Amino acid sequence: MRAHRIAVVAGDGIGREVMPEGLRALEAAGRRFGFEIAATDFDWSCETYAATGRMMPEDGLEQLRPHDAILLGAVGFPGVPDHISLWGLLLPIRRAFDQYVNLRPVRLLAGVNSPLRDVAPGDIDMWIVRENSEGEYSQVGGRMFEGTPDEVVTQVATFTRRGTDRIITYAFDLARRLGRGRVSSATKSNGLWHSMPFWDARFAEIASRYPEIEHDQHHIDIMAARMVMQPRRFDVIVASNLFGDILSDLGPGVTGTIALAPSANINPERAHPSMFEPVHGSAPDIAGRGIANPIGQIWSAAMMLDHLGEGAAAQAMLAAIEGVLADPAEPRTPDLGGRATTQDLGRAIADRI
Ligand code: NAI
Ligand code: MG
Repeated sequence: MRAHRIAVVAGDGIGREVMPEGLRALEAAGRRFGFEIAATDFDWSCETYAATGRMMPEDGLEQLRPHDAILLGAVGFPGVPDHISLWGLLLPIRRAFDQYVNLRPVRLLAGVNSPLRDVAPGDIDMWIVRENSEGEYSQVGGRMFEGTPDEVVTQVATFTRRGTDRIITYAFDLARRLGRGRVSSATKSNGLWHSMPFWDARFAEIASRYPEIEHDQHHIDIMAARMVMQPRRFDVIVASNLFGDILSDLGPGVTGTIALAPSANINPERAHPSMFEPVHGSAPDIAGRGIANPIGQIWSAAMMLDHLGEGAAAQAMLAAIEGVLADPAEPRTPDLGGRATTQDLGRAIADRI
């Protein structure tokens, strides 16, 4: 039987509550489609940090490396500053494994209320492709005359041709693979003098290699407004690190609940494992009560299967999520207006798979 070796990092807070449901759904998919999930648990979290002073052991990346993929819950907890959980675990994994694509599907599903008026399921259905390794999130820059009236601070965005071309190319390849008709680029070439005119030129050049796919570009400010006012016009969006970060929370925002949203940090060349995680964090406000919605975790696990070549199983997982959400007789967690537990909802999805 095919086996997929998965590194499982449940992390903190509700990460530990939703992860078992992600694994339950994966096992159900494996039974139906004939593969095995060989999961190894890594108990790396803010609790580990409190005990050892490190989010993960010194050789943590080497321990992850032999796996086919990494499934993450959420990290971060009150008492440990967020920059420690981010720079001690998530960012080293994204960087060491060259996961330069951050991919988030944004879809309004039947049975979920959008805060937007006049949108129906299917109206919002886009993929956000965010550059995940360079751009505005750089350590280049500095600070002089700190604390004095002459203080000077610079934060330098870095755009390489290699980094820009590969993310834009990924977006067009994704559109081609999914049969999507249009790629929209997020820009701001009217304000950013150097980086965005370069981005626009690379976008135009790469777009010309995909004549069957339409392309357009929007300044990031009006794009944000259009995602709210005219979400139907977007199909695949490609954006730099900062712009993509903002859009990829705006997307789940307009579809109603962040708890459903999945994401993938992908190394498309498959030289290193990719990492799949829900968009939400550890939700300390509800952690420990068993009421977190597990769908973001389960959908992330489905994206992982798709990446591992189990496309039919991934489809079945998504269909199970959609089926449960659309059926008023099925359990719903409190964020969806119900009274069900994390396990009730997880079991209902696994049963459908
Ligand atoms: P959060 O996503 O944890 O929570 C935001 C709000 O959404 C809370 O009211 C929470 O109860 C609710 N929520 C989130 N996921 C839910 C789910 N599955 N079911 C039901 N309700 C859900 O974001 P917040 O509060 O800003 O961050 C909490 C911690 O998580 C921080 O330490 C932060 O750094 C960390 N974090 C970690 C991320 C990651 O591991 N990739 C991503 C975002 C935040
Ligand atoms: Mg973000």
